[in-house]
Amino acid sequence: MSQGLSATAVKNLDRKGYLDIDIDPTLDLVAEIQRLKKEKNAIILAHYYQESDIQDIADYIGDSLGLSQKAAKTDADIIVFAGVHFMAETAKMLSPEKKVLLPDLKAGCSLADSCPPPLFRKFKEKHPDHVVVSYINCTAELKTLTDICCTSTNAVQIIESIPKEQPIIFAPDINLGRYLVKKTGRDMLLWNGSCMVHEIFSHEKITKLRMQYPEAELIAHPECEPHLLETADFIGSTTGLLNYTKRSAAKVFIVATEAGILHQMQKASPDKTFIPAPPENTCACNECPHMKRNTLEKLYACMEYELPEIILPQWIIDEGRACIDRMLEISAAAGLVSKD
Ligand code: 13P
Ligand code: SF4
Repeated sequence: MSQGLSATAVKNLDRKGYLDIDIDPTLDLVAEIQRLKKEKNAIILAHYYQESDIQDIADYIGDSLGLSQKAAKTDADIIVFAGVHFMAETAKMLSPEKKVLLPDLKAGCSLADSCPPPLFRKFKEKHPDHVVVSYINCTAELKTLTDICCTSTNAVQIIESIPKEQPIIFAPDINLGRYLVKKTGRDMLLWNGSCMVHEIFSHEKITKLRMQYPEAELIAHPECEPHLLETADFIGSTTGLLNYTKRSAAKVFIVATEAGILHQMQKASPDKTFIPAPPENTCACNECPHMKRNTLEKLYACMEYELPEIILPQWIIDEGRACIDRMLEISAAAGLVSKD
């Protein structure tokens, strides 16, 4: 589908990670994307951390579990993943016969990067009696070294599905790992990885905000550090946090996760106030720079030219898929199925 593309744009794709083409500034991108969706039988799956304009045009917005479940059962010919690389890889592993597009291949993840598969393989070899549970925020190659995947929605149920006497390695997020140790009482071996966004929140500034808004509830994602989680009124995945804000009687929330989720929170509860938990410095560090690499322009270009595409070696799909299937089975048995 690269007809009409300049040779330079194709040549630059690897280096830039996206199709850097001139787009007519008068083009109605939203209308064009809607047209392409219909013409190509494409589905746009977007994570809550995407820019609001991308969330608004998506067919499905969700957390990592919901997005995987949707990718596994869609009958679209093309999955356009408005998220980061490991999410699009997961979609490709679940639906290998489909074309999976990611608007910007350089939309990575600091957490996935913190667990390089060759290092992890050596670590695993030292503990051959351990079962490996990996957070879905890891590379496709790491999934080939994993027994069961999990997301922040189902992590407790996944750990509890493993017999008590069975030792466990948990990778790559140490904060989620510590949270799970506390929650399940299981003593797991933890890999020392973390997310750059969820470790940036300022304890001091949050304390000041709580003094300013004594009625506010602090809600946090389990990728946050233990000292923050200890003071949170509610801890949950992005979907868990969103649902909590809908049912809670509180009117003000300090939200300790990536700020993109505020768009859906505000839409669902227009009468409530949502304050993004402030980062330690004055940058926009509570926004994920990887998630935010995707733009409406890149989304349009990738749908028009069907590039860049996620291509995985067959052995990765063959060896990496079982841990995701296992996760989906356990989630379904626990009733953790996205309703949309
Ligand atoms: P969830 O979507 O599972 O809440 O995870 C958040 C996240 O960090 C995704 O990158
Ligand atoms: Fe990765 Fe953190 Fe960004 Fe999620 S928010 S994609 S875990 S860097």
